[in-house]
Amino acid sequence: MSEWFRVCAADEIDNEDLVRWDHEGRTFAVYHTEKGFFATDGLCTHEEAHLEDGIVLGTVIECPLHQGTFDICTGKALTAPAYDDLRTYPVKVEDGTVYIRI
Ligand code: FES
Repeated sequence: MSEWFRVCAADEIDNEDLVRWDHEGRTFAVYHTEKGFFATDGLCTHEEAHLEDGIVLGTVIECPLHQGTFDICTGKALTAPAYDDLRTYPVKVEDGTVYIRI
């Protein structure tokens, strides 16, 4: 069963940036883009680099280790050496607070 969890205040994530959010041994990346807020697994599907250290380019996250890229909105792997998609999670903003459903 999934439930909503508070991540942070919405203004704690700059536009075109992300934060790392850890929960019960799992790690996630929560993004603020021009299209709104999104969340994916925090580890790259290639060699598990943390995307926290990556670069947000519009609605694309570039992995810091080998520069593979993913679509932040869909999790789709876009460029090698990233071939497996990231899992995505619903995000909502209420009263200036960002929530993730996992
Ligand atoms: S670990 Fe992310 S592209 Fe290699």
